[in-house]
Amino acid sequence: MKFLIAKRLSSFTLWVTTLSLVVFVTLRCFVDFRSYEKIAVNLLQIQHVGYIPTQSEEGEEAKLVSKGNNTAAAAPGAPPPFAGWPVERTDLFADDEEEEEEHYMAFAVGRGKEGCDVFDGRWVYDNVSMPHYTEKECRYINPQFKCQAFGRPDRGYQHWRWQPHGCSLQRFNATLMLEKLRGKRVLFVGDSLGGSQFFSLVCLLSRAIASFRKTPKHSPSSTIFAAPEYNTTIEFYWAPFLVESNCDDPKNHRVKDRIIHLYQGSMDKHSENWKRADVLIFNTYTWWLNEENKMKTLQVSSQEGEKVIKEMQLEKAYGLVMKRMVRWLERNMDPLKNRVFFTTMSPTHFRSFEWGGVRNGNCYGQMMPIFNSTYWGSASKKSIMEVVSRALGEAKLPFTLINITQMSEYRKDAHTAIYKQQKYGLTEEQRRNPESYADCVHWCLPGLQDTWNELLFNKLFFP
Ligand SMILES: *[C@@H]1O[C@H](CO)[C@@H](O)[C@H](O)[C@H]1NC(C)=O
Ligand SMILES: *[C@@H]1O[C@H](CO)[C@@H](O)[C@H](O)[C@H]1NC(C)=O
Ligand SMILES: *[C@@H]1O[C@H](CO)[C@@H](O)[C@H](O)[C@H]1NC(C)=O
Ligand SMILES: *[C@@H]1O[C@H](CO)[C@@H](O)[C@H](O)[C@H]1NC(C)=O
Ligand SMILES: *[C@@H]1O[C@H](CO)[C@@H](O)[C@H](O)[C@H]1NC(C)=O
Ligand SMILES: *[C@@H]1O[C@H](CO)[C@@H](O)[C@H](O)[C@H]1NC(C)=O
Repeated sequence: MKFLIAKRLSSFTLWVTTLSLVVFVTLRCFVDFRSYEKIAVNLLQIQHVGYIPTQSEEGEEAKLVSKGNNTAAAAPGAPPPFAGWPVERTDLFADDEEEEEEHYMAFAVGRGKEGCDVFDGRWVYDNVSMPHYTEKECRYINPQFKCQAFGRPDRGYQHWRWQPHGCSLQRFNATLMLEKLRGKRVLFVGDSLGGSQFFSLVCLLSRAIASFRKTPKHSPSSTIFAAPEYNTTIEFYWAPFLVESNCDDPKNHRVKDRIIHLYQGSMDKHSENWKRADVLIFNTYTWWLNEENKMKTLQVSSQEGEKVIKEMQLEKAYGLVMKRMVRWLERNMDPLKNRVFFTTMSPTHFRSFEWGGVRNGNCYGQMMPIFNSTYWGSASKKSIMEVVSRALGEAKLPFTLINITQMSEYRKDAHTAIYKQQKYGLTEEQRRNPESYADCVHWCLPGLQDTWNELLFNKLFFP
C-alpha cells in the first residue's frame, strides 16, 4: 500500500516536473540568449586542478595532525563560546513497526526535522564555531585550495555558518562519522569541485584520528586516504564527465576541444573502480559549460560500427550521461547497504554586474556573501538542474541530492580568486590586472565545501 502511494506520488512529481520543464524550455527560448563566452574562456584557463597531489605525495607518511586550540574563542573580548546547535529530533529507530519501516536508509542514526529543507537558508556570521579547522591544521589540503598560504589578506570567508530556515543542522561530528563508517569505503567521483569536497571531508575527519595514511591507488585517477583506526577509506576518483572523455588524464587535461564518449560501455573503464564503494558522492557540471551550449560526443555508428563524433545539445548529452550513471548505480549499489549522493552544480562568479556590482568585476576582492535571497547567477543552468531532477527522480534507487547550488550562489567571497598556487607563469599584463586571472570557479579551504560536507553528514545520518 505504502509503495503504491509512493509510486503514485512519484509519478505525480514526474508529471509536474515534466510540465514545468516544458514551460521552462519555452520561456528560455525567448529570454536566455546570453553568451557564456567570458565564462568559457575563464574556465579554460583554470580547469587544471584535476590531479590532486597531496603534500605527502613525495614520500613520508603524513605526520600527526595538530589539534590546535580554538583561537577565536580564546580571543579577548570575543563573544561567549558557541553553546552548540539546538538539538533536533535525533530519536533513534523508534520501536513501533510503522516507524521502523520508514528507516530504510543505510547508516541513518536519527531523523532530520520533518518538512525542513536544509538547503534553503541563509549565511550567518559566526566566528566562534566556524571554521571547523584552520588551513595550517589540515596538512592534506591541495595547494590549489590554500588561500591564506598564497596571500589572501582576509579571513571572513571562513566564518560563515549555514542556517536553514526551518531547522538547524546537526553539527559535523568526525568521531560519529568514522564510527558509523567503520570498515567502509567513501568515494567521491567527479571533477575538481568534487575533489575539493573530498579534501574538505579529509580535513574534517582528520581531527578525530592520529593521521591519514596514503594507500596504494587502484588507478592513476584515484587518490586514497585511509583512517587505520577505523579501517575506513576516503577516496576521490577523477572523472570530470563521469563517462570517458579526452579530459580524463588526471594531470594533463587542459583540452580545448572536449569530447565525451557516449557509446555502449563508455563508463566501464571508470566505473570498474567504483565497485564496492559503500558511500558514493558524485558530481559533474563545470566541464560541460561552453559558449555554444553543445557537446561533442564520440559514438559508434550503427551501420559500420565505426566511431563517429556527433555534436549534441548540451542538456541532451548531460541527460544521457546521467541516465547511464543511474543505470550503473541501480545495477551495482544495494539500497539497503549503500548510499548514493549527487552534488549539484557549483556556481561561478565571473559577472559582478549580476549581483549589482561593478560592470567588469568578478569574484576578485569580494569579501562578503550576497544577501539577496533570490540571487541566481546565469552560469548555473536551470535547464541542467531540471535534467538532474528528472534523471534522479526516475531512478529505482534512493538518491540523496546535496543541493549546494543556491547556498553557494550567495558565496561570491569564498572563491580562491588569485590566492592559490599558480601552475602556469603569469604575464606582466595579468599581474597588472589580477581580475583577469582570478579563479572564480574553485573555493578556498577551509570554506564553503565544509558546509557541503556538513549537509552530507546531515543527509547521511539524519535523513
Ligand atoms: C590550549 O590552550 C591552553 C590555554 O591557553 C594551553 O594550556 C594548552 O596547552 C593549549 N593546548 C594546545 C594543544 O596548544
Ligand atoms: C567575532 O565577530 C564579532 C562581531 O563581528 C566581533 O565583535 C569579534 O571581535 C569577533 N571575534 C574574533 C575573535 O574575531
Ligand atoms: C560525537 O559522536 C560521538 C560518537 O557517537 C559521541 O560520543 C560524542 O558525544 C559526539 N560529540 C558531540 C560534540 O556531540
Ligand atoms: C576492513 O574492512 C574491509 C571491508 O571494507 C574488510 O574486508 C576487512 O576485513 C577490514 N579489516 C579489518 C582489519 O577489520
Ligand atoms: C536579486 O537577485 C535577482 C536574481 O538574480 C534579481 O533579479 C534581483 O534584481 C535582485 N534583487 C536585488 C534587490 O538586487
Ligand atoms: C536545488 O535547489 C534549487 C533552489 O533552491 C531549486 O531551484 C532546484 O530545483 C533544486 N534542484 C533539484 C534537482 O531539486
